[in-house]
Amino acid sequence: MNLPHSQPVADFSDYRDDFPALQQSVNGQPLVYLDSAASAQQPNAVIEAVASYQREDHANVHRGVHTLSHRATESYEGARDKLCNFINASSRAEIVLTSGTTESINLVAQSFCRPVLKPGDQILITWLEHHSNIVPWQLVCEQTGAELIVAPINDRGEVELDALYELMTERVKLLGIGHVSNALGSINPLRDIIGHAKQAGITVLVDGAQGVPHMSVDVQSLGCDFYAFSGHKMFGPTGTGILWGREQLLEAMPPYQGGGDMILEVSFEQTVFNELPYKFEAGTPNISGVIGLGAAVDYLSGIGMDSVLEHEKSLHAYMVTQLAAIEGIRLVGTAENQASVQSFLLNDIHPHDLGTILDHQGVAIRTGHHCAMPLMQRFGLPGTARASLGLYNDRDDIDRLTGALEKARQVFA
Ligand code: ALA
Repeated sequence: MNLPHSQPVADFSDYRDDFPALQQSVNGQPLVYLDSAASAQQPNAVIEAVASYQREDHANVHRGVHTLSHRATESYEGARDKLCNFINASSRAEIVLTSGTTESINLVAQSFCRPVLKPGDQILITWLEHHSNIVPWQLVCEQTGAELIVAPINDRGEVELDALYELMTERVKLLGIGHVSNALGSINPLRDIIGHAKQAGITVLVDGAQGVPHMSVDVQSLGCDFYAFSGHKMFGPTGTGILWGREQLLEAMPPYQGGGDMILEVSFEQTVFNELPYKFEAGTPNISGVIGLGAAVDYLSGIGMDSVLEHEKSLHAYMVTQLAAIEGIRLVGTAENQASVQSFLLNDIHPHDLGTILDHQGVAIRTGHHCAMPLMQRFGLPGTARASLGLYNDRDDIDRLTGALEKARQVFA
């Protein structure tokens, strides 16, 4: 077999043993999990960090003088520090803990955009975006009379940069752009894009849900203003996420929600809000989830994000070669810079049927519109089948995928 890379990939096989969910059989076959873009599996270190908090340290954070509350607060705030280092934020005040990327983007739409947008203003996105980087902007545009405009992509699934830059006029108040397309895997050239946006005086939010789990992210060197991501796609628990924002911007923004913990003083006449980042964290947070996310950060840091990217790029190249060799395969999304995700169709088999046949063979993929309906419409498709990689996948997984697809092709022949 001709491998796409002559160099052997770093040996990631030991990491697989860290993930208990991957040790099971599904429908009588060892599980091959190729749906990490939807939600990644969790390593023992994360599961144990959550369980240990639940077993021994559970109490509310920031509210008690007793030992358990101190312990819970220390672990919870420790996770914030780890996240701050992981993305090289300049201060822990810039790490707002949310329920996920979706909440982070809604927070920016409502607290940053809503107070300043007026009729005639524009918010700029691209055709690649996930619904959570479309709908929050639609809502705020409806609320303010601003307009949502969309930069085109080419047939490979890459943003048309010239067209994007032409749309960057003084009317545009914010650019919302994905780091990596969840449906097609295209990696956007963020440095260039952010550089152009900054020259045009445009605030930039990056949807990093599919970026952070797969590559090293340095928010200061990227030069964006907001970067949003989710815990459960980076091997942490669901219901956790981060909004990183420049301190100066966050400072000037009004709170997103009111409640406990986001205040310093409350009377019926007025409320004095808490300092950053707590001003944006109303109510009892997902304490165990955030502690688990801290363990996920430790886990990823131990491996090194550059190694993760190298491993996944190599595996993605192998997946593309192997898929392309199957008769009747159409790859959807062939960007030059692509990683971790591959969408495809097989003959005229409906993606859901394909997903079901693969599941019967123990292979888990996602099928459908991938929360990117406009993108699917751009390709004239109701949906695709999508295999998405995590650091625990290997070439055997890809071989199982292609074997299962061959079988599906024969069933539908
Ligand atoms: N955004 C997730 C995905 O791409 C759910 O599957």
